[in-house]
Amino acid sequence: MRIDIFTIFPEMFQSPFDASIIKRAREKGLVDIRTWNLRDWTTDKHKTTDDTPYGGGGGMIMKPEPIFAAVEAIKCDEKTPVILLTPQGRPFTQKVAEELAQQPRLLFICGRYEGVDERVRQHLVTDELSIGDYVLSGGELAAMVIVDAVVRLLPGALGDERAAAEDSHATGLLEGPHYTRPLNFRGWKVPDILRSGHHARVAEWRRQQALKRTLERRPDLLASASLSTQDRHWLRAWGYTGPFVEASECENE
Ligand code: 6GU
Repeated sequence: MRIDIFTIFPEMFQSPFDASIIKRAREKGLVDIRTWNLRDWTTDKHKTTDDTPYGGGGGMIMKPEPIFAAVEAIKCDEKTPVILLTPQGRPFTQKVAEELAQQPRLLFICGRYEGVDERVRQHLVTDELSIGDYVLSGGELAAMVIVDAVVRLLPGALGDERAAAEDSHATGLLEGPHYTRPLNFRGWKVPDILRSGHHARVAEWRRQQALKRTLERRPDLLASASLSTQDRHWLRAWGYTGPFVEASECENE
């Protein structure tokens, strides 16, 4: 995969992309991530990337010319998604991460929060994403979040490919608890079932824990999760009264 990121703060990306999973993925050649400074496509002495809004009011707006020039210089095909990071974008979710991970190439434009000239949206951008309902100073941190979530899905990026499939949200549920040694830490013991060696019972316990945790913390997720008949019976017994997706739409039976 190739990822191009356009920003006025390329230095922000250095250490996050030079550690952990992303670093390893880059070293393995799974992803080629390039950051580009929009100032390199300005033509004036002061390298101006923003200007005051027509109609007045506060804040500065990112000018269209450097953004168009930069993206047109680097993008070489029409199929590549051109994604604007903005709090007005569609919500970024694990499902969106999975879709983006299928693409051979992605291009991100980091907007400053006051805004980007509307013509960038209308005539250059193909998609707009937001990482949540809060305001960041710019799209840079959002781009890092999205790149991290996408790169870890690329085949070979994680040491253990099972891990990604069972992640919180990947299954539509939150994950249950995990334990490692020591068996007894300050008197707090690991549940006996995990040491029983009964793989089927361990799997059932884990499923119940994931369902309970989701019911307690994010019951909204249960309405769209892929749930078996058994899962639904447990949830009803534990007091869940909300909706489920149609059983016929459900693969997890
Ligand atoms: Cl993508 N950009 C900004 N500036 N703020 C955000 C965001 C993006 N997503 C959530 N808040």
